[in-house]
Amino acid sequence: MLTSYDYSMAKLVDQAGVDVILVGDSASNVMAGNETTLPMTLDQMIYHGVSVRKAVNRALVVVDLPFGTYQGDSKEALKSAIRIMKETAADAIKLEGGAEIIESIDRILSAGIPVMGHLGLMPQSINRYGTYSVRAKEEEEAQKLIADAKLLEEAGCFSVVLEKIPAKLGKQVAEMLRIPVIGIGAGNGVDGQVLVIHDMLGITQEFSPRFLRRYANLAEDIKGAVSHYITDVKSRDFPNEREQY
Ligand code: KIV
Repeated sequence: MLTSYDYSMAKLVDQAGVDVILVGDSASNVMAGNETTLPMTLDQMIYHGVSVRKAVNRALVVVDLPFGTYQGDSKEALKSAIRIMKETAADAIKLEGGAEIIESIDRILSAGIPVMGHLGLMPQSINRYGTYSVRAKEEEEAQKLIADAKLLEEAGCFSVVLEKIPAKLGKQVAEMLRIPVIGIGAGNGVDGQVLVIHDMLGITQEFSPRFLRRYANLAEDIKGAVSHYITDVKSRDFPNEREQY
């Protein structure tokens, strides 16, 4: 699984053969330049979801429910999920949390909308924790995560993302659940992996957590291409004879 937020990138990611494309609320960071995912609105997620959906022919498309659209009020949660499904034609939605949002999950599932859970580091709850450090290192938090994972499976979620937790715990949860467990910083004992596309392609430069493997250095490629273009325009090398009418 990889994220995408726009048509052109989603098309490439889909053509390369990834199984699941997540229209993540990490769009808030990598597309909109916000420090957290909290400012993302439902309309913004729908905009990204529509763009991605148009590009994707084979991968499953999952769209994140953004902060404030599903916590606390399960009827509101259902309305938000229905808007995503109707307006983007996504295949499923993802939301963050366990027991505290189970009413919302139940209501969304009962409307026939497939739900992917998300436990461990939950960026929408950053203000509760104050840091993006590894979660569930202590026994109490690990036990809560295990209980939440079971709850999500029993409720009917089709998959769960585990973010930034000890590898041993990731493996334990993956072995315990029958549904696929997708990890990001949760070790290699889980069933699948997810990364933010801008991070794995090396477009983002400042973000370097241990779990991130960069498969390209597009920041350097893009800056190199742009500075080459500037040089060519200034020297009137571009456009040449064949590049004009
Ligand atoms: O928003 C996102 O990109 C995510 C992934 C990091 C799992 O939730």
